[in-house]
Amino acid sequence: MKVNGVPTRSIWSLDDGQRIGIIDQTQLPFCFKKVELSDWREVVDAIATMKVRGAPLIGVTGAWGMVLAIRDNPEDDAIHAARSELIASRPTAVDLQWGVDQIVTAVMPYCPRERFRMAVKMAETLTQANVLANRAIGTHGARVIAELYAKKRAPVNILTHCNAGWLATVDYGTALSAVYIAFEQGIPLHVWVDETRPRNQGLLTAWELEAGGVPHTVIADNAGGHLMQHREVDMVLVGADRITAIGDVANKIGTYLKALAAKDMDIPFYVAAPSSTIDWSIQDGKHSIEIENRNGDELRYVKGLDAKGQVTEVEIISPLTNVENPAFDVTPARLVTGIVTERGVCAPEFLTRLFPEGARRRTRW
Ligand code: MRU
Repeated sequence: MKVNGVPTRSIWSLDDGQRIGIIDQTQLPFCFKKVELSDWREVVDAIATMKVRGAPLIGVTGAWGMVLAIRDNPEDDAIHAARSELIASRPTAVDLQWGVDQIVTAVMPYCPRERFRMAVKMAETLTQANVLANRAIGTHGARVIAELYAKKRAPVNILTHCNAGWLATVDYGTALSAVYIAFEQGIPLHVWVDETRPRNQGLLTAWELEAGGVPHTVIADNAGGHLMQHREVDMVLVGADRITAIGDVANKIGTYLKALAAKDMDIPFYVAAPSSTIDWSIQDGKHSIEIENRNGDELRYVKGLDAKGQVTEVEIISPLTNVENPAFDVTPARLVTGIVTERGVCAPEFLTRLFPEGARRRTRW
């Protein structure tokens, strides 16, 4: 997608895989800053501190982190140690483990001095594959939006939560890819953007939509139910951090409440994600998916611009008050109307029909 008219991706490789470039997303929407990482431990830090974020993007970033680790030490023990550390940097999004393991699986059959070259090749493939998958997700998702427009003959109001745009992937996004493509096709639409406390990823969504000229309105997280009751929402469309084999969906905290309200009002609730987000090894999301608990400071402090236009942080909760900060929740498959993947859209229970090979897939490392 474009930033100030310049085609930009959220991650890119430099010097034949010796370094990677990223956008420091902790600075957005206030400041657009690119950063270069040349050591795999810097990659671990960038993922843990959410300089890069969004399940598909951290999957590809983890893959590049593994490339840098293999460059430094291509022996088996070092690879396994770096793999464990990279995967532990964020536990909920399964794409991270997937991306790291794609590299490990690709290099292990080779002798150590061949491994870096093979790792770079695989990381380039994964990066490009993510772009193509997201574009395909967008095409399938846009068809769903077009069908709603055909029935309504008035702008389609889409509610989204968190950021499932190009910043959360290599390019295009997942949920927002559908929005971008529908908008390109001339379908009248408007996006309700959940602010998404405490990290306010909704402001990244608003930043993206503003840059793309897509009509949108930011709302407080708690406003969605009210808007749904008053028929101001035609569909909910979100991304995912992990989808189980039966279609339970882990996504940013607050998604479950939107799904409940949508069910109550009979509003379609769609989830858009590439197949790298599907964890075929688990069924029941509520009991099997590890939910990341993040630092309470994310709740205690709010970041913004001061009167002089400088980025500043203020404390809004007493240090004596306990806080709890689960970062994700699980929406059960029964509340999900459809899952939009690179192969098409299906009801959650039919995921294995779209990906028959999925049920057979097992992690090797
Ligand atoms: O904690 P984050 O910002 O990494 O959260 C991930 C997300 O961006 C969302 O949950 C998103 O909807 C899925 S990723 C496209």
